[in-house]
Amino acid sequence: TILILDFGSQYSHLITRRIRESGVYCEMLPCTQKISDLHFNPKGIILSGSPYSVYDQDAPRVDPAVFKLGVPILGICYGLQEIAWNHNGSIVPCDCREYGHALLSILKNQDHLLMNKLFENLEGDIQVWMSHGDQLDKLPADFRVIGKTSTSPYAAIAHEEKQIFGIQFHPEVTHTPLGKEILRNFVIGICRAQANWTMESFIDKEIARIRQIVGPNGQVVGAVSGGVDSTVAAKLMKEAIGNRFHAILVDNGVMRLNECETVKKQLGDHLGINLRVVQVSDLFLNRLKGITDPEKKRKIIGNTFIEVFEAEAAKIDQETKEGNHGEIQYLLQGTLYPDVIESISFKGPSATIKTHHNVGGLLENMKLKLIEPLRELFKDEVRELGKVLGLDEELIWRHPFPGPGIAIRILGEVTPEQVAIARAADHIYIEEIKKAGLYRKIAQAYAALLPVKAVGVMGDKRTYEQVIALRAVETSDFMTADWYPFPYDVLKHISNRIINEIKGVNRVVYDISSKPPATIEW
Ligand code: XMP
Repeated sequence: TILILDFGSQYSHLITRRIRESGVYCEMLPCTQKISDLHFNPKGIILSGSPYSVYDQDAPRVDPAVFKLGVPILGICYGLQEIAWNHNGSIVPCDCREYGHALLSILKNQDHLLMNKLFENLEGDIQVWMSHGDQLDKLPADFRVIGKTSTSPYAAIAHEEKQIFGIQFHPEVTHTPLGKEILRNFVIGICRAQANWTMESFIDKEIARIRQIVGPNGQVVGAVSGGVDSTVAAKLMKEAIGNRFHAILVDNGVMRLNECETVKKQLGDHLGINLRVVQVSDLFLNRLKGITDPEKKRKIIGNTFIEVFEAEAAKIDQETKEGNHGEIQYLLQGTLYPDVIESISFKGPSATIKTHHNVGGLLENMKLKLIEPLRELFKDEVRELGKVLGLDEELIWRHPFPGPGIAIRILGEVTPEQVAIARAADHIYIEEIKKAGLYRKIAQAYAALLPVKAVGVMGDKRTYEQVIALRAVETSDFMTADWYPFPYDVLKHISNRIINEIKGVNRVVYDISSKPPATIEW
């Protein structure tokens, strides 16, 4: 394992990403991590960048014990400065903040061969990405320069005996095209870490960990939605503890067309997960009566969900008491690594994980502890894991679907009639996107039902009916998004089908707003 100590740079998680791409397992911990408290022996340590300056009053500091461990160390940007600061180097503010592309001249040293290893197989000038306000202006004792740019004379430095390296640029971003090679040189060539991190090894390790946490009789509950994260997490639990994991699917009446049936087939029949479906559409739709405000809808659905989920878990607890099982002590959650990273910030005690895709209230009410088997993975790794665990391609690539479902895609009151229209339109839309081979090119697509009526003509008759708005976006992080440039003939075909096949709709519009300032959901 390679240890990455995070000083809060916006790029820190990319270091983890790039190293894992080389098949080497690494973990990122806050920079304040005490070395004596580590639960593993790192083969090497990377110090990340940071928005701070090493001379700031409240600058984050590394445990000096890292320099006594005797394992290779690589400091990136602030990490380089932190190394220098710990070795009596001198750091000064740059005349002007350096941000953007730069050319790094690699300097090889004939007398000190070990330190050439960071740039092994690289020669001459390479393109790198800089983003810093401070830089080194005096080398610490026994360090040598192994790379420079026109503005940074000490852009890369190394200590031969101690195997400590510092680089001012960011190898983890794609703007440093050979950055991945440099990181690989460090973790494999210098730290001698093994490139043996595969999904199969992850599964074995995680199953063992779950079994140890849950114990031989412990039970776990978890909500599933049919999305890739909750399904992969559920399948992993099933592999670890079999039927002592109870998956609960709450049919809230605002899922997509046939969705409940599909999830039952996929998770229950195909993946063999111990699944309970709670059919409570009427309860949800009753509570949504007369509500038009989207935030109120979200609250009602969230609270009702918690109520239903708790009741079902209590039932399971009761039913399994007769068997030899212990109480339910854990709640499964499909939290991914980017959420964990946000919450391990060194600024104060760890912030809570984003609440909007969690069922936060459950934890407090039910006195459950969280179990998060995907907390080390990125989304694309979860997809890969899903493949190894036998999930269907269709499920693996499913667009995200919000918890409050089509209730927030029906603008205005949510009635069974409106649900039927919105569902039918969404179904046609997604079906046609798939037929056109565009589903995987689009990050998220859905049809919204607008609370307005428009005039139309059908046959010889005037109509006065509702409007469907189509939304499709391209995005990688869902924080910003662009509308998808559909070929006209695909849009034309979708529009024809929706208007012809769905009673009550006489007009289809396409949403051409990007996020920001619009959001993905209406
Ligand atoms: P926005 O609309 O904020 O959406 O641009 C960003 C992503 O979040 C999803 N989303 C939700 N997911 N409960 C959820 O579980 C919600 O209340 C909710 N609102 C938005 C949205 O579908 C998109 O993927």
